[in-house]
Amino acid sequence: EKGGYPSFMAKEIHDQPQAIADTLLGRVDAGGRLQLDEMKIGEAELRSIDKIVVVACGTAAYAGQVAKYAIEHWCRVPVEVELAHEFRYRDPVVSERTLVVAISQSGETMDTIMAVRHAREQGAKVLAICNTNGSTIPRESDAVLYTHAGPEIAVASTKAFLAQITACYLLGLFLAQLRGNKFADEVAEVLAQLHEIPGQVRQVLDGLEQVREIARYMADTRSVLFLGRHVGYPVAMEGALKLKELAYIHAEGFAAGELKHGPIALVEPGQPVFVVVPSPRGRDSLHSKVVSNIQEVRARGARTLVIAEQGDTAVEPFADVVIRIPRTSTLLSPLLAVVPLQVFACELATAKGLDVDQPRNLAKSVTVE
Ligand code: M6R
Repeated sequence: EKGGYPSFMAKEIHDQPQAIADTLLGRVDAGGRLQLDEMKIGEAELRSIDKIVVVACGTAAYAGQVAKYAIEHWCRVPVEVELAHEFRYRDPVVSERTLVVAISQSGETMDTIMAVRHAREQGAKVLAICNTNGSTIPRESDAVLYTHAGPEIAVASTKAFLAQITACYLLGLFLAQLRGNKFADEVAEVLAQLHEIPGQVRQVLDGLEQVREIARYMADTRSVLFLGRHVGYPVAMEGALKLKELAYIHAEGFAAGELKHGPIALVEPGQPVFVVVPSPRGRDSLHSKVVSNIQEVRARGARTLVIAEQGDTAVEPFADVVIRIPRTSTLLSPLLAVVPLQVFACELATAKGLDVDQPRNLAKSVTVE
């Protein structure tokens, strides 16, 4: 069942190229246009949406945070991302023109179910992004976009996360295409890049021997920090969550821009800090800002483990370790950048002799509030 891998998690990490490819499969027609047949919410309604609210928990909520950057950029519709249990117990402003997107691997997370019910009571349309056919969340939603990651057994989510991000991109591109905004012409180009991603994830996986080795040496580590900006921020949060869940190591992910607003006080000599670096070919000065952040923590003695695009030499003087990912657009880069962090957590937990498939105190689906 584990296909020769030592754990379900290791297998599921290696299944990720397939999970992305299967989530894309059959959704683009011969003319390069997206067709989401399961999208049962009418086109007129989708055109009239003035806000999207993503509700989810844990890793699924980080997929939602990636979606926010992509969908706002492509569709110019405001996207809020909220933990489902927080959304449910306040008085959120939603209306008939709000699209609530509920992301859940299992489709049975009670916190997310309650948020879906609450949203529908307020008159919002709910779209589920879900990995489990016929589960409660899609059944209670107006429409569903299934991720086709296949069953995920390990408690820690990996392939479902990449499939959720992929489905969120499809949703964003679909809305851009439908609403015919100025980005609509670029949809085909992004779809083409998205189809390159499974092969690129495979390349990342094939090049991670160094990460595995480092993880094995770090079994005694007490704390690890993860920094990212823009879409690298949710990637950093997810890297920290994986390490907490699997290796029981204190880990914190934060937006690199926050460093000087407090967290840099944590940095002392020897502190391991992962930094997710955006493409140097991207917009604005995002890349140089993150390079400065690496310098700042390095100057205080941090051990910097830097995830950077192939060919990005600017990071080299300040990195103790450089982990390379292939080139893609900044918005799609989380699908590549998170993979070394998943492998790092899995390997480190294994080196500590822990059960990576069944971490203590956790359940695969959290069916109580
Ligand atoms: O089944 P769901 O996607 O609704 O689950 C949400 C979270 O409970 C889940 O992502 C959790 O955070 C995982 N253990 C993360 O690895």
